[in-house]
Amino acid sequence: MNRSDAYDLKFHITPPHGLLNDPNGLAFFNGQYHVFYQWNPHGTEHKNKCWGHMVSDDLVNWRRKNAALEPSEWYDKDGIYSGGSVVHDGKLHLFYTGNVIRDDGVKESYQCAAVSEDGEYFRKIGPLFEHPSGYTRHVRDPKIWRDQSGSWRLIVGAQTDDLRGDALVYKSADLSAWTCQGSFLEHDHKFGYMWECPDVLQFPENDVFVFCPQGLPEQGENFRNPNQSGYIVGKIAETGKFHGELADFQELDRGFDFYAPQSFKVGDRIILFGWMNSMDEETEKAVPTVQEGWIHTLTLPREIVLADGRLYQKPIRELQGLRQDGMQGNIGNNGVWQLPALQAELIINFSKLSENFRMMIRGAVQIDYDREQNSLTVWRTNWATRQREYRKAILTHTLAEMRLFIESSSLEIFVNEGEEVFSLRYFTEDAQQRAVRLEAGGNEGKVSIYRLQQCVD
Ligand code: FRU
Repeated sequence: MNRSDAYDLKFHITPPHGLLNDPNGLAFFNGQYHVFYQWNPHGTEHKNKCWGHMVSDDLVNWRRKNAALEPSEWYDKDGIYSGGSVVHDGKLHLFYTGNVIRDDGVKESYQCAAVSEDGEYFRKIGPLFEHPSGYTRHVRDPKIWRDQSGSWRLIVGAQTDDLRGDALVYKSADLSAWTCQGSFLEHDHKFGYMWECPDVLQFPENDVFVFCPQGLPEQGENFRNPNQSGYIVGKIAETGKFHGELADFQELDRGFDFYAPQSFKVGDRIILFGWMNSMDEETEKAVPTVQEGWIHTLTLPREIVLADGRLYQKPIRELQGLRQDGMQGNIGNNGVWQLPALQAELIINFSKLSENFRMMIRGAVQIDYDREQNSLTVWRTNWATRQREYRKAILTHTLAEMRLFIESSSLEIFVNEGEEVFSLRYFTEDAQQRAVRLEAGGNEGKVSIYRLQQCVD
């Protein structure tokens, strides 16, 4: 099936065909960056999961490789689920969850490893450990890091027998013998019924625990998507436990489509990719690209910075290399700007902000700024329900900058150097429509627009 330019994405990682979900195994190995992703090569439903594989010299231009891991063994015969990687002793070690549906219908999961010397062919090692009692079969998504003392740590998302979300932490000296240190959090808790895709970001002053709780009730403008991705800032103790408060949980992204993020270290930077999906089944089934045999995309890579107790997310600086011809001007009163292509970056730097403003992108996505609240609201039309829907964030700092990465069917809005990010898909029937309408009121500032070059195979 051919992809139409109306929806195709040219600077994001999408599957060649079939379904993509979580980013997996992010690594820099043998001079190249590796991004793996959950991939169903056989269709656009959630089954037959294997690990798709992309490589890059610069984190921006990506080439496709063959699938890195496919179901083949008794312990992963029904799916290679999510996980992370580490580089050690000149080898790339992948960790993943093997998904098994037994003949009697009972489902099982195994935390497994695979290893490669060339970053291309992976030898499976098999299951690493048994799960402790007190947990359902929902234990998955191993992520590994090295602590300050040189020990390996592994964290997995889990569900307790009494249906509470949790994460289990393990320790190892050699990446093969693992000791369970129990629940990652110190105290008993009830925060959703399952946690997926846990991750730990280490900053000099603090540690950040990132995870995806399922089943949190909506709270005002928070937790509006079916499942959440967020973090708490704290500190990992000697015992391996994380000292931090679930009451401080903050969402990573304020858009409609963001889930299952994973990070890795690149020099002294921490870079994160997410998966752009709403996690709503009906909306997912109706994504128009399904007609073209593919579905979903990863987000752009973001550099993560911890400041004032929260995470800031900035598009990685390498993305500036994609900029082609650009144009600049003042925001004016009621301006209409034409995007030079369906792949564009639009930056607004405000010098005076005294009134509300509204922005309409390609007739499909509306952004409203409320001066009094210092809030941004992003509207789109849901393609399944045809209803208008919104997501809103109240900013901590006065709005000074917005950076929008616009593709034919995706949008990422970085606000104030990444204080907030909105990630979303949108679908417009009018593929020719390239207008960005800016009702700026009396506000003043500069607009820069660049055409972005295609960079994914
Ligand atoms: C998150 C997730 C993971 C699982 C994978 C399966 O989106 O459900 O928990 O490993 O997707 O594709």
